[in-house]
Amino acid sequence: MSTTRPLTGETYHYKVIRQLTVMTVIWGFVGMLVGVFIAAQLAWPALNFDIPWLTYSRLRPLHTNAVIFAFGGTGLIATSFYVVQRTCQTPLFSPALASFVFWGWQLVILSAVVTLPLGITQSKEYAELEWPVDLLITAVWVAYAIVFFGTVAKRKTPHIYVANWFYGAFIITIAVLHIFNNLALPVTGTKSYSLYAGVQDAMVQWWYGHNAVGFFLTAGFLGMMYYFIPKQAERPVYSYRLSIVHFWALIFTYMWAGPHHLHYTALPDWAQSVGMVFSLILLAPSWGGMINGIMTLSGAWHKLRTDPILKFLIVSLSFYGMSTFEGPMMSIKTVNALSHYTDWTVGHVHSGALGWVGFITMGSIYYLLPRLFGRTQMYSVRAIEAHFWIATIGVVLYIAAMWIAGVTQGLMWRATNPDGTLTYAFIESLKATYPYYYIRVLGGLLYLSGMGVMLWNMVMTIRGGKAVDAPVPRLDPAHA
Ligand code: HEM
Ligand code: HEM
Repeated sequence: MSTTRPLTGETYHYKVIRQLTVMTVIWGFVGMLVGVFIAAQLAWPALNFDIPWLTYSRLRPLHTNAVIFAFGGTGLIATSFYVVQRTCQTPLFSPALASFVFWGWQLVILSAVVTLPLGITQSKEYAELEWPVDLLITAVWVAYAIVFFGTVAKRKTPHIYVANWFYGAFIITIAVLHIFNNLALPVTGTKSYSLYAGVQDAMVQWWYGHNAVGFFLTAGFLGMMYYFIPKQAERPVYSYRLSIVHFWALIFTYMWAGPHHLHYTALPDWAQSVGMVFSLILLAPSWGGMINGIMTLSGAWHKLRTDPILKFLIVSLSFYGMSTFEGPMMSIKTVNALSHYTDWTVGHVHSGALGWVGFITMGSIYYLLPRLFGRTQMYSVRAIEAHFWIATIGVVLYIAAMWIAGVTQGLMWRATNPDGTLTYAFIESLKATYPYYYIRVLGGLLYLSGMGVMLWNMVMTIRGGKAVDAPVPRLDPAHA
């Protein structure tokens, strides 16, 4: 459509998006490789080879940092830079600062790759990186906010498209969470102590941790959903009004749900109950958003049969719906008494992470790559189809295995004999878990192979293409 419109003579800044997009796929592969390796270590513990930096305790945070911040984060920055330019019909504010965001973020990731295996950590989950890296993250994030909101401010369109609202909320909230959760007193270059102590520390950590899920792993990706699903389906968003309600309800509710990570701890009981109630309420906006995304396909359902990119995007929403149903259920205290500390939580995490975050990112990147490298489509559409099916089987194996393992563990731990003694020793529950750990390795390997196919397809697409920056059209009077 844009080619028939008069042009401004300017082009969108795609260079930084090309860099970020390529790195997203590479980091995805690396992070998942580490995931498969630690999954294998749980099945065959000898795989740490008695080398300290190969131990599970050090590689697990490397996995979570690599998949959340390197894969997810780079993908979010890439897509947000694309979406904000296209929907505001203006080139990026300050390409130089955008380039700093790219290089700075890669430096953050490399710092994680070095420090985490060395055992340098703050010991806060998802906030393991020590204070010098935290300062670098802050600098990069401020630059990111300036580029993003600077572009929104110089937009040519009268309104701000809803995808930008979600990306914007993600950027602001992560800044606030990162700063407050990482307040610490440095003692050496690689060691610091948290400013909070005891239960306050736990509360701040899970206010951070849960909102990292809510804003890093959800709000930003909903921004992707609101742009790439309508684009790929060639249909307008099902309900713009619902998207606004979805936005405000989601960001208001997420903030209060953190205490569900601290059920039955020293946290005051009322705070745990507040967390539970808000988690239950969270089901409504989450499903509202899912329905809005899926219904965008109304009248175009047939496209699902032939378009593997749309398959990724729509199936991601089914997993989003599943994990946001499961989450509120797990936040009910009596259910959590069974699920907490078990592999059920890990199953829940990966139905969101592999099914929702992974699939929506893959779909969006398959949409982007040909447009960034001057091709009409990916090198091999059949390879996208193969990727979709391999990955779907992988996710199902992973999460089904963890659900069964988790419920088995929970039931075995709580089983008592008539005289009140425990029926099972812990080691028995561990033995019962092994078959599921093998299945998870298999599921993980499949998911990783799919990512390998994507990597290959990306390289072939780039080899046959050339870097192009699309022209910026003059604002269509019909949209003014
Ligand atoms: C090939 C794919 C993957 C495999 C095999 C894998 C495997 C694992 C394993 C074995 C753990 C440790 C579980 C435990 O401590 O009991 C884990 C944790 C985790 N993974 Fe993955 N993972 C994969 C992909 C991903 C992706 C793509 C994401 C996010 C986008 C992700 C996010 C997480 C998170 C957040 C945790 C911590 C869970 C918790 O603390 O409950 N993983 N993963
Ligand atoms: C309505 C939405 C959701 C609610 C109410 C919710 C609720 C919960 C609950 C109750 C737990 C278990 C806490 C525990 O026993 O330790 C949990 C863990 C977790 N959830 Fe969700 N969840 C939701 C959606 C999601 C989504 C969409 C994702 C990923 C994309 C996700 C990622 C995680 C992670 C990473 C953890 C593990 C945290 C940790 O212990 O390290 N959640 N969630």
